[in-house]
Amino acid sequence: MAQAMLYSPGSAFSIPAMPSLEQLRITHPDIRADFTIDQHWERYGAAEHGVWKTLFERQAKVLPGRACDEYLSGLARLKLGAEGIPDLERLSDELQKLTGWRVVSVPGLVPDEVFFDHLANRRFPAGHFIRHADQLDYLEEPDIFHDVFGHVPMLAHPVLADYMQAYGKGGQRALTEFHALKNLARLYWYTVEFGLIAGKDGLRIYGSGIVSSRAETIYAVESPSPNRIGFDLERVMRTEYRIDDFQESYFVIDSFDELFQETYKDFAALYTKLQGGPAYKPGDILPSDRLHHRGTHTYVGGSHAA
Ligand code: PHE
Ligand code: CO
Repeated sequence: MAQAMLYSPGSAFSIPAMPSLEQLRITHPDIRADFTIDQHWERYGAAEHGVWKTLFERQAKVLPGRACDEYLSGLARLKLGAEGIPDLERLSDELQKLTGWRVVSVPGLVPDEVFFDHLANRRFPAGHFIRHADQLDYLEEPDIFHDVFGHVPMLAHPVLADYMQAYGKGGQRALTEFHALKNLARLYWYTVEFGLIAGKDGLRIYGSGIVSSRAETIYAVESPSPNRIGFDLERVMRTEYRIDDFQESYFVIDSFDELFQETYKDFAALYTKLQGGPAYKPGDILPSDRLHHRGTHTYVGGSHAA
């Protein structure tokens, strides 16, 4: 699996191993009510830093010309490098100066309401652990490489930073008032995790799930297989997604300002509308779609070969 189980609000029910706070207290006695723990950066060993280095160097080779400038400049401004797993306190001090966000350590997936509360307060929860060296392409839960390398550079961008906070607040409403988490989770999936942006030199990646995966970085931009469809809010919120393989469709925004304008409005009426009408499969194409590319669907599922 290239990127399974990236944090996807609303998908926690499909993940059997989501432990309660009480269960987590056994392995993390100091865990707080908001599921955060101290990172204890000094406790990471050479092998763990080595995995970060390997993953970082792999991505540094494939991202230029494929990731958007906003992502690459965030990476540089935060001075994220290959040396090893970042110290989140130091990283947060840098990030906070840019956009007011901090990164906090959590053992793994957290409940939806906890996740939303962190985002609504400009805190990004990052998994404490890092994948093993023999599982570089395999992720059952988001680890610190996905969460920090994938997400944090975009949090240095002022518009995306505001979007993420608004998403957290929207998540709280969707959960408690509208019971529309399924729809809202699709928006997160197809933007924050797997979004593409149309730049002057062609399509570029801003989605964290893509930039933290070597094979999907190449596939998302270059493979003829997937559809690449112009972003449309309602369309996205009706579209199912797959968590266990490369995406069959990507949605393309024209700018971060457009994404923010499209989403920074009251979703109440839209949620009502979404209760009726169809849901779409990940590979569907609709007559109303603005296509950047019509997928050939030649990718062989499960092969993870871009
Ligand atoms: N506008 C959404 C609402 O009314 C919240 C939201 C904002 C969601 C930005 C995603 C991104 O609930
Ligand atoms: Co993620």
